[in-house]
Amino acid sequence: MTVRVYIPCDSGARSLGADAVAKAIAAEAQKRGLSVEVVRTGSRGLYWLEPMIEVDNSGGRLAYGPVTAAEVAGLFDADFLHGGNHRLALGVPGELSYLKRQERLTFARIGITDPVSMDDYIEHGGYRGLERALALSPEQIVEEITVSGLRGRGGAGFPAGIKWRTTLQTDAPQKYVIANADEGDSGTFADRMIMEGDPFVLIEGMTIAAIAVGATQGYIYLRSEYPDSLRMLEAAINAAMARSYLGENLCSSGKRFMLEVRVGAGAYICGEETAMLESLEGKRGMVRFKPPVPAISGLFGRPSVINNVVTLASVPIILEHGGAFYKDFGMGRSRGTVPIQLAGNVKRPGLIEKAFGLTLREIIYEYGGGTASGRPLRAVQVGGPLGAYFPESLLDLPFDYEAIAAQGGLLGHGGIVVFDDSVDLARQARYAMEFCALESCGKCTPCRIGSTRGMEVIDRLLAARNGEKAAELELLRDLCDTMTAGSLCALGGLTPLPVVSALKHFPRDFGLSSSA
Ligand SMILES: Cc1cc2nc3c(=O)[nH]c(=O)nc-3n(C[C@H](O)[C@H](O)[C@H](O)COP(=O)(O)O)c2cc1C
Ligand code: SF4
Repeated sequence: MTVRVYIPCDSGARSLGADAVAKAIAAEAQKRGLSVEVVRTGSRGLYWLEPMIEVDNSGGRLAYGPVTAAEVAGLFDADFLHGGNHRLALGVPGELSYLKRQERLTFARIGITDPVSMDDYIEHGGYRGLERALALSPEQIVEEITVSGLRGRGGAGFPAGIKWRTTLQTDAPQKYVIANADEGDSGTFADRMIMEGDPFVLIEGMTIAAIAVGATQGYIYLRSEYPDSLRMLEAAINAAMARSYLGENLCSSGKRFMLEVRVGAGAYICGEETAMLESLEGKRGMVRFKPPVPAISGLFGRPSVINNVVTLASVPIILEHGGAFYKDFGMGRSRGTVPIQLAGNVKRPGLIEKAFGLTLREIIYEYGGGTASGRPLRAVQVGGPLGAYFPESLLDLPFDYEAIAAQGGLLGHGGIVVFDDSVDLARQARYAMEFCALESCGKCTPCRIGSTRGMEVIDRLLAARNGEKAAELELLRDLCDTMTAGSLCALGGLTPLPVVSALKHFPRDFGLSSSA
C-alpha cells in the first residue's frame, strides 16, 4: 500500500531544510523498495517544529518534527510510515495543544491540502462560498460581509462591508479588486502562509469581492521577497482559469473576472494603499492625497476595492456560513478570528488563529512558551514597526483593536514581537525613527525631515547630562506631536507610537528617572 507523507513547501519550512527532507524520504523509500507518495503542503504554522512532516496511514495523520535529512533513515528504521515510535514523534497534529486550542476558519486548510491542487481545495470545502455568492445579489453579498463585522486585517481595521458598498454604489465602466500582499510589517507572515499554503482561498475571496462590487479585473500586489508565493499564486491562477473559476463566464455565471499578480520592488511604503496604486500604475510609490478614497477613485482613477490578503481570504468562509456565523467569534467591535503571528525571542513562534480577545499573556506564555532565551520578558511590540512597545505589566491586555488602541498601540497586521531583558528600548525608539527615514516616500515634511531630526534628538537625549535632558525631551515630544498631527499618511503619523511608548514604559533606557 502506498503511504502518503506530507511535507510543507512553505518557505519557512523550506528555509529549515524541508526540501532536503522530501528528497531524502523519496530516496530512502526507493532504496528500501517502499511505496511512498510525497505530498507538499503549506505549513501548519508551528514554526519551531518545522520541518514538521505528517504520515497518513489509514488511521489518520501522525506528525514528526523537526525533521532533518540526517534523521530520515532513522525514521524509516523506526517504521514511521506505520506510526512507529521515534524521538521526533509528535502524535496526531490536530491534538497538539498549540493547534487544538485554535479556531481555524481562514487557515483551516493550510498544512492539510496540496496548495495548488484544485481537487484538494474543493474536496476540503473550497468554492462553497463562491457558489453561494453566485446565488445572491451584489447587495446581499455586501450585506453578509457587513453583518460579519469583518474589518481590514492589513492594519487600519476599516470595516470591509463599508468599503465594498462604496465601490458597489459608484458607477464606472471599469472597477478593480486589489489584494494587498505587500506584508511589510516586521514579524508578520500570515499573508505569506495563505499564498503559499492555500492560494485558492485568496482567489475565491477576490472573485466574491469582484462579483459583489462589479469588478472584472483583479491584481495581487505581491512583495518581491516572496518568490514562493509568486510561484504558488501563478500555479493556482492558471488552474482556476483552466477550470473556469476565473476568466470569462466564470462558473457559467455570465460574469467575468481576470486576475494577475504584480510584484513590487521592495518599498515598505508601497503597502500603503495609495502608494501601492501608484506602483501598480507603473510609477514611483508615492502616497496620494485622500479624498478621493480608492473605493471611489483608485487604480487608473477607477473604483477599486483594496483589501489585505487575510481580509479577502476570510470572505469565502463568511459567504459559506453567513455573516452571523463569523460575527459569533470575537468580542466588542473586533469580530471573527485573527491570525496572530508570534515572533522574536519566543520559544514557540508561529501562527495562532483565534477569535479576538486572548490576552497578550495567554498568547506569549500559553502558546509561545515564554522567551526562547529563558531570560525574563521585558517588552513586546504589537502591530509591526509602527506599533507600541508594551511592558510585562500590560500583558493582560486583550488582543483586540479597541483594547490595544486604548493603551496607545495598534493591532496592525496581528504581529507580536517578543523581547527579553537584554533589549534597549532607547535603541528601539531610535530605530523607529531610522526606519521611517529610510522608508519615507518623501512627500510630506513632518515625515521626511522629522524622522531624521528624530534620530538626532534621540541621540542628543541619550548623550545629554541630567540637567540637559528635559529640553531634549520636550523637543522630542514636540516633534512626535508634529509627526502625528501633520503627516500625510500613517508611516509618519504612527512612527511616534513606538517612540512615545518606549519613553512612557521604559524611561530608564533613556537615562530618565521616571515615566516621561
Ligand atoms: C506605511 C504603510 C504600510 C502599509 N503596509 C501594508 C501592507 O503591507 N499590507 C496591507 O495589507 N496593508 C498595509 N497598509 C494598510 C493599507 O494602506 C490599507 O489600509 C489596507 O491594504 C486595506 O486593506 P484592509 O482594509 O483589508 O486592511 C499599510 C499602511 C501604511 C500607512
Ligand atoms: S507620512 Fe511619510 S510616507 Fe506618508 S506621505 Fe508623508 S512622507 Fe510619504
